[in-house]
Parts: sequence; structure tokens; C-alpha cells
Amino acid sequence: MKLSDMALKIRPSSTLSLSAEANRRRDEGIDVINFSAGEPDFNTPENIKEAAIKAVNDNFTKYTPYAGIYELRAAVADELKKEGLEYEPEDIVISNGSKHALKNAFSAITDPGDEVIIPAPYWNSYADIVNMVYGVPVIVQTKKENLFKVSVDQLEEAYTPNTKALIINSPNNPTGTVYSKGELEKIADFAVRKDIYVISDEIYRRLIYSRKLRHTSIASLGDDIKERTIVIDGFSKSFSMTGWRVGYTASNREIADAIANIQSNSTSNINSIAQMAALEALKGDKGEVELMLKEFQHRRDFIAQRISDIPLLSSILPKGAFYLFVDVSKLLGKEVKGVMLNNSSDVAKVLLDSYNVAVVPSDAFGVSNYIRISYATSMRDIVEGANRIEKFVKQNF
Ligand SMILES: Cc1ncc(COP(=O)(O)O)c(C=O)c1O
Repeated sequence: MKLSDMALKIRPSSTLSLSAEANRRRDEGIDVINFSAGEPDFNTPENIKEAAIKAVNDNFTKYTPYAGIYELRAAVADELKKEGLEYEPEDIVISNGSKHALKNAFSAITDPGDEVIIPAPYWNSYADIVNMVYGVPVIVQTKKENLFKVSVDQLEEAYTPNTKALIINSPNNPTGTVYSKGELEKIADFAVRKDIYVISDEIYRRLIYSRKLRHTSIASLGDDIKERTIVIDGFSKSFSMTGWRVGYTASNREIADAIANIQSNSTSNINSIAQMAALEALKGDKGEVELMLKEFQHRRDFIAQRISDIPLLSSILPKGAFYLFVDVSKLLGKEVKGVMLNNSSDVAKVLLDSYNVAVVPSDAFGVSNYIRISYATSMRDIVEGANRIEKFVKQNF
């Protein structure tokens, strides 16, 4: 008896596994600083929680339409209009988080053997999701000097007649890079010219810290590109709603109907109560959400400065999301605490075992020699974690 080839190929999500390990050590009483989780430490805003409690008390606890309640789909469509995106409520499908939205999207467009271009560094689940639908991930290595943005020349090189889609993730996890409108226009031209789909993961779109830079959705750059783009978004990050599991796709009607059919036969609707909470997140007061954004900016400025002051470490100032991507290549080739540092996993291992700091090694994101620090954690932990990383470098190099 053998598992399917697909199941054998899929690895557990490395960031979730690492974070679980850090939390396990914490539960054992070890004072671990967990820089590995992509999860805001804030509570879900009060008004959102109250909307959920009201939904329970109103007995809003039955099946809903499988693509989501109409009011929420309409609220998402209204929200996207602010980004210059004209969608009807019927073009939106509410799913169990944006991870599920991505799985739905790829299930709707991918045939076995179809290639999907994924610029690296990439969010760790992309390649596994493509594998789950029997697609072929084609990884393109971006360059640090290009702020980890993929160029059209690189896309041309990666393109084959089997290319079906391209993933764009702006703001990016793990680098925090944000594509400008001009850069997205070039990528949009490429996608239209080659007649391929674009999966645009915009889950961090509200988390941009530069006043000069505005989020642009590639789908807003013309009818041709909108027609072939599936926008992915969710409530986990900007509304601190990771556990509620609400995300969505916005796409042309044909794709939306296909996604809704797939969802109707896999998960049905998402949790009815979470849908009411998400509706309040979009329609209700955004005071707490704005405070979170300010706090993230403060934390980013602090951790970026602290890390850049540590000899041998360097990083690019992230423009969005809540991660710092730190180049550790200058630490490699030395033995520390009995471990030969051959790669960023070895660096992460020593940081966790000897300094109680959990970071994600960059192999998870398809590149070598970096670690990812998530600053979606408390200021106390950020200060302490930075101190411990500094101690690790100063004591051993
Ligand atoms: C780029 C990106 N996309 C999607 C997700 C999935 O988020 P969720 O499924 O909680 O909406 C994450 C979570 O870390 C992410 O970083």
C-alpha cells in the first residue's frame, strides 16, 4: 500500500512547523523569542469579535451560500473598488483563508504538467500548492540588488509553451518588497503577450510603510490583465484574524464560478460566524487596525536599525508586510557551539538551541543564506530577540 505521489511530495509548512516548535519550547518554560510566526500578536479588534458574538446569538449558525454570504461578497467588491478594481459580488468567492483561496485558484486553472512561474524568495506554500494540483513550480531567482523583484527578462527566460501562470506577491513575504506601478505594468504586458494567468497575492496590501509608495493591484492595470488575474486576499494579517480563516479570490466570472463549484464539493461555505466577523472588519470602525499599522511601522524601523548595527548582518529595509530578510552569508563557514555553519538552517539551529531565538531559514523560501525575522510580535520580544542575535554574532565572530 502506498500513498499518492502527490502526498509523498508535500512537506509540512516549514513556517508553521517552526513556530509550533518554538511554542512547544515556550510551553516547557523556555523563554523563546518567536520570530518565526507570520501572525500578528494583537487581539482581533473588539468590534469584529462583537459581530461574531452577535452572529451566534442571532443563531446565524447554518450553512450559507457556498461562495459566501452576498453581503460579504458585496463588501469585498466595494473594498476593491477603492483599489481601482471593478468586480461584481458574484466575482468574489469567500474561502477558508487566503491559503485556501490559492488552492482553489490553482485547482481552477492548472492541468497536470502546467508550469507556474514563482519568483524566489517566495512564500513557502506556493510551490507545495502548485504540486498539490499536479502543476510544476518553476522557480526564478530574483536578485538582492534588484530588491528581490522579478524582471521581465527573467520571466522571458523562464517561459515555455507549458507556462500557465505566474505568481506575484506584493508586498512580499519574506522580503517586504513592494512592486511599483511601473514594474507591474511591464509584468502585465508580459502576461498578456504570453497569454498566461497571474495569481496576485495581495494579502499584505494594507501593510505598506512608505508614504511615497501606494499598493497597486496588477489587475487594476487594464481590462486584458484584469481578465487573466486572480486576486488573492484575506483578513488574517491586516485585521489580526489568523484563526478565523477568512480569505477570498476576485476574478473573472468564469473562474469565480469554477472556484465556487470546487469549493462547494470540498469545504462548502466557510464558517458562518467568521463571515459576519469579516463583514464587520470591512464595514465597521478601523481604529484598531490603523493603530496596528502604526505599531508595525515602529517595530520595522526599530528591528531594521538594530540588525543593520550588528556587524556581518545586512538587510534591505522592507517597504511592507512584517518581515525582515537578513543576509547571513558572512557568518557561514565557521563552527559555532559545535555546529558547522554551512547554511542558513545551521544558523537558525544555533540561534534556537543556544540563544532561544526562533527564525526561519531561507531554504523555506527557495533561496540560500538568509533568515527571516517576523516582527509581528511584541516590542519586548523584538528588543530581547535583537539583543540575543547581537550576542550570538559578537560572541562567536
Ligand atoms: C504571502 C502569503 N499569502 C497567503 C498567506 C495565507 O494566509 P491565510 O491563509 O491565513 O489567509 C500567508 C500567510 O502567512 C502569506 O504570507
